[in-house]
Amino acid sequence: MKAARLSRFGKPAEVIELADLDEPGTPGEGEVLLEVIACPINPADVLMLEGRYGAAPPKLPLIPGAEGIGRITQTGAGVKHVKPGDLVLVPGPGTWRERLTAPGKSVWALKSKADLHQLAMLRVNPATAYLMLHDYVPAEAGNWVIQNAANSGVGHCLIRLAKQAGVKTINVVRRESLVAPLEAYGADVVLVDGPDLDVRARAATGGAPLPLAIDAVGGSAAQRLARCVDEKGVVVNYGLLSGEPCMVDGRDTVFRDVTLRGFWLRRWFSETQPAEIGKLYAKLAALVEDGTLKIEVEKVYPLAQIKDAVVHAAREARAGKILLEMTGR
Ligand SMILES: NC(=O)c1ccc[n+]([C@@H]2O[C@H](COP(=O)([O-])OP(=O)(O)OC[C@H]3O[C@@H](n4cnc5c(N)ncnc54)[C@H](OP(=O)(O)O)[C@@H]3O)[C@@H](O)[C@H]2O)c1
Repeated sequence: MKAARLSRFGKPAEVIELADLDEPGTPGEGEVLLEVIACPINPADVLMLEGRYGAAPPKLPLIPGAEGIGRITQTGAGVKHVKPGDLVLVPGPGTWRERLTAPGKSVWALKSKADLHQLAMLRVNPATAYLMLHDYVPAEAGNWVIQNAANSGVGHCLIRLAKQAGVKTINVVRRESLVAPLEAYGADVVLVDGPDLDVRARAATGGAPLPLAIDAVGGSAAQRLARCVDEKGVVVNYGLLSGEPCMVDGRDTVFRDVTLRGFWLRRWFSETQPAEIGKLYAKLAALVEDGTLKIEVEKVYPLAQIKDAVVHAAREARAGKILLEMTGR
């Protein structure tokens, strides 16, 4: 069985390799065997290859990949809730391979006719956007939310999910050419990042509540968002795109009681009951199926071209995600 394997950390294309591994074998009691169809390459995967993901680097060797879409091919004893042929979200980490066994309780049948490439990206970005929008500040109609890296997969999902909740979005990007496409996608306001971001954001809201900022960048970009939110506002940091620690000025934390929080989807999985997890994904899958949620794809690579795929995924100014296609369509 083919898999992408990482034996040391470093430059993505230098450290990722295509490996021939033993087949996963027959699923044991409570397990399922599944065939992986497609997986995205997310920024977190690139961080993983570089050894910068998580509070401490994981043990090597490992198979990267946090998510994907797959199909059950066999179930072990005691597994009743899924059957061969069922479409499932592939539980990570370790999805960049053709086949794997997983605990039965980590999968559920996805009753969806949506595009398989969109479903391959359902587990991480849509859920991240949904939870950040709803779990820190009540998503009240008429409020505003500001986010940076707004052209990302998470950013696209947040635009559409906020619109659904009646919350307006200010979308911060690093290049002017993204303004028109993001407005066409449903963004209320698109601003190119800069030192006067707070002045332009306030002008855009006309004084309406702006209690929440969503930060994927860190460094001084986090500070510029902190300056935009209302008194007692919350900045939720969920990404490390600049590689710099989040800055928040004492003028915002001390005098305006602005709070910096962190979001990690993996923690949410570990703290949430399976029934609640299944409920959220059923809701998000329906939004993918009706077209509300759509993440652009720039290119799909076969697993055999893993080196080219990771180089492409780490590039700036992409027009969409990079996907890996395995087998089993
Ligand atoms: N905490 C969690 O649980 C969690 C879950 C999901 C995602 N994430 C994080 O969310 C972020 C977005 O992920 P994604 O999969 O949605 O990304 P994506 O679709 O692959 O897009 C990456 C985006 O990041 C922007 N970007 C990259 N470096 C930047 C920088 N230094 N300053 C400003 N913008 C920058 C790119 O802008 P250009 O178009 O200008 O290149 C692009 O819009 C990543 O940091 C990822 O690790 C975290």
